[in-house]
Amino acid sequence: MKIVIAADHGGFEMKELIKRWLDVNGHDITDVGCFSIDSVDYPDFAEKAVSLILKGECQMGILICGTGIGMSIAANRYRSIRAANCSNVFTARMSREHNNANILCLGARVLEVDTAVEMVRVWLETSFSGGRHQERILKFSD
Ligand code: RB5
Repeated sequence: MKIVIAADHGGFEMKELIKRWLDVNGHDITDVGCFSIDSVDYPDFAEKAVSLILKGECQMGILICGTGIGMSIAANRYRSIRAANCSNVFTARMSREHNNANILCLGARVLEVDTAVEMVRVWLETSFSGGRHQERILKFSD
């Protein structure tokens, strides 16, 4: 499974830390930026990440901005994208189990780094439950 990661300037430092954790733990990552703390626009980086998922080059994504809100709003404009802006380990797990989220959004100005890393770990390890949850997803997503 390939994971695309992206951030704006508000999420850049957290992206670098999470990327290092993913790398050390053997994950296959594509980083589509941003690559510094210079101010950028989060929709541009949400779109870069989403496009790799839509093309099938990556299966999961992690998007980080100041709050996670802008990234999730921008990413969720695409029908097959289910981007979950999660606030803790429980919501990260549930976004996989019940919502089959294919993108995890994180707020770098909201979350402690240790919590964010644990959310990523749990999110990647948790499977979708399917069943009634699949029927619900098919009402709004592919
Ligand atoms: C950038 O200052 C900030 O607005 C952005 O990172 C994000 O929080 C938007 O939702």
